[in-house]
Amino acid sequence: MSQRNGDAVVLHRVSRRYGSGDGAVSALDEVSLTFPRGSFTAVMGPSGSGKSTLLQCAAGLDRPTSGSVTVGGTELTGLGERRLTLLRRERVGFVFQAFNLLPALTAEQNVALPLRLAGRRVPRARIREALHQVGLGDRARHRPAELSGGQQQRVALARALITRPDVLFADEPTGALDSRTGHEVLTLLRGMADREGQTVVMVTHDPVAASRADRVVFLVDGRVHGELAGAGADAVAARMTGLEAVPC
Ligand SMILES: Nc1ncnc2c1ncn2[C@@H]1O[C@H](COP(=O)(O)OP(=O)(O)OP(=O)(O)O)[C@@H](O)[C@H]1O
Ligand SMILES: [Mg+2]
Repeated sequence: MSQRNGDAVVLHRVSRRYGSGDGAVSALDEVSLTFPRGSFTAVMGPSGSGKSTLLQCAAGLDRPTSGSVTVGGTELTGLGERRLTLLRRERVGFVFQAFNLLPALTAEQNVALPLRLAGRRVPRARIREALHQVGLGDRARHRPAELSGGQQQRVALARALITRPDVLFADEPTGALDSRTGHEVLTLLRGMADREGQTVVMVTHDPVAASRADRVVFLVDGRVHGELAGAGADAVAARMTGLEAVPC
């Protein structure tokens, strides 16, 4: 298939099935999507529609049963474990609802971790700059337990971006935050797309969060069920209400 230079991630007819026989579940069914560089996309859909599976397959954390995934021009299908691990480490950032910081490490040590794991030099100024970018320049020596939820998620964001990845995936990054703190995290994501040209793909259940993205892709039963570009929260919410009524 054709790969335009301007695409950070391309999924081509990606399917992911779990199990076999009667108990088989089709979590993704021939999903084709393109995420242009510098774009901010939200993924929405009912619970169990395949949103997390989509992110995991696109990030090389899970392998599709069929179809292809291309990140920054490299096709993941067929990569061995070692090369896939390297690609994940260097070219993909991931943040989760649960911030997944290491509790024994300070904020700056958490942020430095991906570079350390990659055996790369860890310039202190770069770590400080990353923390500064997420508004935590004065919290470098704090451990996760000494930070609020929103601050912990911002450390997780700085950590995900320290390798300057081709794409940042976020699975319900504001799911554990109150609306004001969630808003701050969304503003950071929006700014990263606008100012740094960072490609962002975010799963969310919140129409207000989704409306901060350039477009919203809807999933139902493992299939793409349309998308909205530049939609407000009300339009996104109305579309979601419609989707939840789609018969299985
Ligand atoms: N490891 C697994 N083994 C078997 N089935 C799985 C596995 N992981 C996911 N599934 C199934 O695949 C489908 C999609 O799951 P997924 O976690 O991607 O949904 P989701 O849209 O992220 O849901 P939620 O909004 O609840 O997080 C579900 O039916 C789920 O039960
Ligand atoms: Mg999920």
